[in-house]
Amino acid sequence: NTADIGLIGLAVMGQNLALNIADHGYTISVYNRDPEKTRKFIAHCKENEPSADNLKGFEDLATFVLSIKRPRKIVLLVKAGSATDVTINALVPFLEEGDIIIDGGNALWTDTIRREKELRAKGLEFIGSGVSGGETGARFGPSLMPSGTRKAWFHLEPIWRDIAAKVDPRTGKPIEGAAPGKPVQGGFSCAEYIGPDGAGHYVKMVHNGIEYIDMQLICEAYWLMKNLLGMRADEIGQVFEEWNKGELSSFLIEITGDILQQKDPAGDGFLVDKILDAAGQKGTGQWTAANALELGSPANAIAAAVFARALSTLKAERVEASTILKGPTVKLESDREQLIEAIRNALYCSKICAYAQGFQLMDKAQVAYNWKLNFGEIAQIWRGGCIIRARFLQKITDAYALDSRLKNLMLDPYFTEALDEGQASWREVVTLAVRNGIPAQAFCAALSYYDGYRSASLPANLLQAQRDYFGAHTYERTDQPRGEFFHTDWPEPGRPQFKV
Ligand code: 6PG
Repeated sequence: NTADIGLIGLAVMGQNLALNIADHGYTISVYNRDPEKTRKFIAHCKENEPSADNLKGFEDLATFVLSIKRPRKIVLLVKAGSATDVTINALVPFLEEGDIIIDGGNALWTDTIRREKELRAKGLEFIGSGVSGGETGARFGPSLMPSGTRKAWFHLEPIWRDIAAKVDPRTGKPIEGAAPGKPVQGGFSCAEYIGPDGAGHYVKMVHNGIEYIDMQLICEAYWLMKNLLGMRADEIGQVFEEWNKGELSSFLIEITGDILQQKDPAGDGFLVDKILDAAGQKGTGQWTAANALELGSPANAIAAAVFARALSTLKAERVEASTILKGPTVKLESDREQLIEAIRNALYCSKICAYAQGFQLMDKAQVAYNWKLNFGEIAQIWRGGCIIRARFLQKITDAYALDSRLKNLMLDPYFTEALDEGQASWREVVTLAVRNGIPAQAFCAALSYYDGYRSASLPANLLQAQRDYFGAHTYERTDQPRGEFFHTDWPEPGRPQFKV
């Protein structure tokens, strides 16, 4: 037993993470349910990968397990859900006390809590680790969000820190330039212990919820430029390229600029114009929205992004409805430069709200689930490697460094000012979208959140009266201490209210 670590599941993410680990000088045993896949992968590595000698393939689980140093660290990169349980159940009989299973899939965090508990009862450790960054991230440096016991983390930490993306601590910028066999040296590692049991997968889930809204906002900005200014895909792509040089600089803006300028290799025009407008989803955004509903956290923009995907899938219905339901005729705007700048501001302000919602949700969660999350650190490990990596995240880390108990990101002086500066344009863009009948649910939801949050008074007074009227649900009074509840016999005006 000489391997530093083992890995099960050789789909693309598994293969790439295994190679990343091998590149960093660790010896790694790999196993896949289908042995043919293992054989092919090892053969491919021997031909093409400088660190192939660090990898060893196994075709049976018992010898795979025996090949790993104790306490064994075994990473699972199998399909989230029942496949994870099947793999764990197959693996457990071969393990010994203190061995550590690490689930790197997009598991539902409540499943992670259950698995951790079940394995703890068997004397085994379980780390649920968020892994973000897609295929390239896994290969050259992902963002890693592990949780479990501190003891288990102590064993995994050196490898996890080594293989994660690196950020220059001086500039806060991700360090690029990794190539097979040549890992990045130095820099701040985008792997940080998140907390016990399901905390890591929870934080990864919120990352994905934010990913959904970040993507939806970008799509709406694109749609407004296309429909209000009649711009071609490549022209809009150039705008995104330009935006990527400023405060919006991020991976998602960068790839959007690239996507929009790509010609259709199979014909005329741009590829994006040929792609069917029906969005897929694997569920993590939906979990985030559902959890926000469960915790009563007002993440309406994140939910709007999930619903926008759902609406997009009703393609046939929408095509039919477009011939029946009427809207205004779009009036093309003439001041292109000014409107593009307004859309940029609207995007930035909405993005601030979206992140504020994600962090607000995590804050609620840490109270509800008894975790202690470090938000500055979470923003920092999202700075490199992951899908939502962005310059902007440094501002979030700075905000929590200034005030670790910050109630809402929008209240940090930098963000307050950015929202104030951008809001006139933001309102103008939302107004134009509404007036022209262009769907912009994420922009609208973010603005409603902003306006709702900054309102000292809301019409919930009337709502409470309605509830009390039909269901004697009681209400509090503005002129009495909080926590004292009253009921009025509404259908009988003049009858005294009474304290409950
Ligand atoms: C990441 C991504 C990755 C993936 C999600 C979302 O952080 O690397 O979030 O996990 O893109 O599965 O995918 P869907 O859009 O299909 O839900």
